Amino acid sequence: MSEAPVPILELTGVSKQFGPFTAVANVDLSIRKGEIFGFLGPNGAGKSTTIRMILDAVRPSAGTILMFGSSNRRTASLHQKIGYLSGDMVIDEDLTGSQYLDFVGSVYKVDRAKMLQYRTRLVQELELDVAIKISKYSRGNKQKVGLVAALMHAPELLILDEPSSGLDPLMQEVFIKLIQEYRAGGGTVFMSSHSLAEVQRLCDRVAFIRAGKLVGVANIDELNQTSVKKVVVTAGDKQLKELAHRASILKGATVGETSGKELTLTYSGTIQPLIQLLSKYELEDLTIREPELEEIFMTYYQTDKSQTDEVTS
Ligand SMILES: Nc1ncnc2c1ncn2[C@@H]1O[C@H](COP(=O)(O)OP(=O)(O)O)[C@@H](O)[C@H]1O
Ligand SMILES: [Mg+2]
Repeated sequence: MSEAPVPILELTGVSKQFGPFTAVANVDLSIRKGEIFGFLGPNGAGKSTTIRMILDAVRPSAGTILMFGSSNRRTASLHQKIGYLSGDMVIDEDLTGSQYLDFVGSVYKVDRAKMLQYRTRLVQELELDVAIKISKYSRGNKQKVGLVAALMHAPELLILDEPSSGLDPLMQEVFIKLIQEYRAGGGTVFMSSHSLAEVQRLCDRVAFIRAGKLVGVANIDELNQTSVKKVVVTAGDKQLKELAHRASILKGATVGETSGKELTLTYSGTIQPLIQLLSKYELEDLTIREPELEEIFMTYYQTDKSQTDEVTS
């Protein structure tokens, strides 16, 4: 008899109220062993609040959170198994990077030599000078020391809140490499980000959160296949109205707002039908660009829905 493996991390109906304000609303998530899971959303979406609830630093107003199948996330043995990088790291500024890493490392009951070896490699890869006091570190260097602290004991689960913010492009590449290596060694990652590009390169699955609500969860492969475009046309009033109507019945097109002489739409699918439609009108201007990540998600789910509707109706 084969049973489905227990998810490494499972959130069911998790909400957080701050007074009358709902920061996180009824979030369900399930993270499998060995995956790199992206938690994507704009600033203020509720990512850090969700992560703080996962770590039991903030109590949910409703819902349950299981880590390694257990709701008790305060045990020492559980802390051994996770590595955490917070979005706003508060660390003792009076220590050098090296002293700080000694301090963090002292609580882990792992093979000391092995941890030190890995730590040394991480420090080298990230080009971090650990002899300097943390108070003298730039934002990027604080982020690096936090990454080393989260990774060095080779935890089973890595929880990272916007890990690459503050890292320059070269270091972002190093970060991606280190995370890929970590996963290849059997690790699981839950990381928040507001960069679709980063998530697309690194993650297997991604959840998109907006205003505390989960918009959806998707496989990155599937998301990459939906080549959504944002189309902005400028034309006279009569032309624009007619075009808006025709576009609304074009497969793959979603008509957005009209403002003045501009009409915005998103489009997914082969480009030819769109070009054919647009060529029938006297346009004053035309822009076709990559959409914002939120638009990709909205279109992805709308397309998904309409396809289901076609099948069922
Ligand atoms: N302790 C708090 N008290 C009141 N509001 C909070 C608190 N923490 C976060 N918020 C609010 O909850 C929302 C989500 O915040 P946060 O989880 O930090 O978003 P993100 O990490 O996605 O940028 C924001 O509107 C933020 O102002
Ligand atoms: Mg945050």
